[in-house]
Amino acid sequence: MGKLDGKVAIVTGAARGLGRAYALKLASLGARVAVSDLNLRSWQEFDAEARSMTGDTTMDEIRAMGGESMGYEFDVADRDAMQAMVDDVHQTWGSVDVLVANAGGGRGKPRETAASIVPPDLFDLVLKMNLYGTYHACSAVAPIMKAQRSGKIVTVASIAGKVAGIGGGYAHYGAAKAAIAHYTRNLAQELGPYGINANCIAPGIIATARIVQLVGGSESSNSAVNDIALRRFGTPEDCARVIEFLATDLSDYVTGALIPIDGGQNRSD
Ligand SMILES: NC(=O)c1ccc[n+]([C@@H]2O[C@H](COP(=O)([O-])OP(=O)(O)OC[C@H]3O[C@@H](n4cnc5c(N)ncnc54)[C@H](O)[C@@H]3O)[C@@H](O)[C@H]2O)c1
Repeated sequence: MGKLDGKVAIVTGAARGLGRAYALKLASLGARVAVSDLNLRSWQEFDAEARSMTGDTTMDEIRAMGGESMGYEFDVADRDAMQAMVDDVHQTWGSVDVLVANAGGGRGKPRETAASIVPPDLFDLVLKMNLYGTYHACSAVAPIMKAQRSGKIVTVASIAGKVAGIGGGYAHYGAAKAAIAHYTRNLAQELGPYGINANCIAPGIIATARIVQLVGGSESSNSAVNDIALRRFGTPEDCARVIEFLATDLSDYVTGALIPIDGGQNRSD
């Protein structure tokens, strides 16, 4: 018996990276998992991710484990497309029990995205893919979860939503992630009376294929590791374990929380 046998989960941005780890974790716990992504084969962009794939898509990997999965390719900034996916999952599987609103990320270089100079098109794009995508996903599942009088929602912020970037860089991303954390607190207040939990995670530096390419070099040669109490970068599994906690009855009395998954990161500069 898995902790999530008979449950239905949706994970956005799950073709690679952390979202893929969350989808595989929830499937391993017994959930049927709907995977969404802008590109369901986005793993092809990073060699390290490609090497770790055991199937053509996350859905194929789940099916190979004996689980059930469906895939949806769309932009989370598109509210109608989000609603269409949630409706389809609900009609096909009969419930929506877990949402992990993971899709997102930053765009542009830190020195080109300081608070007062971030170009309007980048500001708009990053707010849409993070904050609006999260709002679209949460508002689409909420009526279903309210009717069920149960549900677990997890949103994804970042340490960048808590600590300003060096020189104010990546301000659009930090602002979007801080807004997601506060949106989630409000969501928890609204949905709590319906038996729905809404929590937010704030990963630090997690060594996905994308981050390894971005940060470069080995952990031991990277000075950023000295700002982390546990003296290592996180792994997708470190985050997926917290998703397990937040998606199951282990967290039944936890809502409106912002949970850092950063190894005790405490930037000194
Ligand atoms: N990896 C880290 O260190 C880290 C740290 C803090 C926060 N996060 C957050 O965790 C989440 C996942 O990060 P990751 O490192 O796995 O990133 P990633 O870029 O490897 O994966 C993100 C996935 O989301 C998809 N995606 C992006 N924009 C989308 C959109 N508009 N609509 C639908 N799908 C979209 C991408 O195609 C990709 O498959 C993001 O929200 C990111 O901001 C990551």
